[in-house]
Amino acid sequence: MAVQNNAPLPDGLEIAGYRIVKKIASGGFSIVYLAYDEDGNAVAIKEYLPSSLALRQPGELAPAISPENLPVFRIGLKCFFEEGRALARISHPNVVSVLNFFRANDTVYMVMAYESGRSLQDHILRRREKGERPLVSERFIRKMFNQVMNGLREVHTNKLLHLDLKPANIYLRMDGTPILLDFGAARQTLKGDMQKLYPMYTPGFAPPELYEKNGNLGPWTDIYSIGASIFACMVGAPPQPADQRKTNDKMETYFRKLEGLYSTELIDVIRWSLQVDPLQRPQSVFALQKALREQQPEVKEEALLDKLSGKLRGLFAGIGRSTAAATTIQENSR
Ligand SMILES: Nc1ncnc2c1ncn2[C@@H]1O[C@H](COP(=O)(O)OP(=O)(O)O)[C@@H](O)[C@H]1O
Ligand SMILES: [Mg+2]
Repeated sequence: MAVQNNAPLPDGLEIAGYRIVKKIASGGFSIVYLAYDEDGNAVAIKEYLPSSLALRQPGELAPAISPENLPVFRIGLKCFFEEGRALARISHPNVVSVLNFFRANDTVYMVMAYESGRSLQDHILRRREKGERPLVSERFIRKMFNQVMNGLREVHTNKLLHLDLKPANIYLRMDGTPILLDFGAARQTLKGDMQKLYPMYTPGFAPPELYEKNGNLGPWTDIYSIGASIFACMVGAPPQPADQRKTNDKMETYFRKLEGLYSTELIDVIRWSLQVDPLQRPQSVFALQKALREQQPEVKEEALLDKLSGKLRGLFAGIGRSTAAATTIQENSR
């Protein structure tokens, strides 16, 4: 994400009944603040302020926008508003909750419930710094992404696509439950001229159809990004960018390196989600969730134990105790 060069609103500013506490994040497209409402509830306020189109100097509230940038700024503003309106319809524990909107300082603000935690991206980076192996445990990946997908199902049910799923847009509450952030509900319509406003994709997390002008977007598009985000949890880096994969696909090498750290079943599910051809991927979030549920590592352990008990059977066959030994091991595994 491009760097936000705009000056943030000053701490302590009163705006539309909210008091700004501090800036908590800024990207090329917006600034996010922690604030309090009149009842003292913490909220997160996202200010639409694309740095490529609008410039705010320290000490000023409204940005300066050159006349040539104004039309695109306004379209983006409308899209930002639409994004929030679409999100406001969704009420789900794994989707950020939008509380309000207001206009001020020649731009738009989206008020969300404040969530205390950190992004999955930060979580991965911290664990990478500590040298944890596996980077993120399989158990955590399975549980957390199942919840992410519960939220995503709700999004798709509302005829929306996220289109920018990645660890930086998945937020983890303190208890480890995830929330989907940063929707570009209207991003779909923003192509061509609007590239300046919204980067259409994040390399590594975006499937090939997002690189194409009239790519066939659907649930499978977000599913690729889910696979890519799980991959990032395992490896600590995004998958190879989809455009490169089309000519020289190196993903198989990376998948093989994960063997032993994660179950073959999980790796296979990620391989499936990350197919370059959209038709070869799971076609719905539910299909992916089902695959993850059915391909549990316990199943693998059982298979291993089957193998082991087979060997033991062979070993004990000579002394006539094969069946008893095998049964004990399998029972202990449950
Ligand atoms: N509701 C929220 N509660 C707490 N922090 C939030 C919330 N929304 C966004 N943030 C913080 O702001 C960051 C950027 O938000 P995001 O919506 O992804 O904006 P951007 O378009 O800049 O990527 C998040 O990674 C998170 O740290
Ligand atoms: Mg973001």
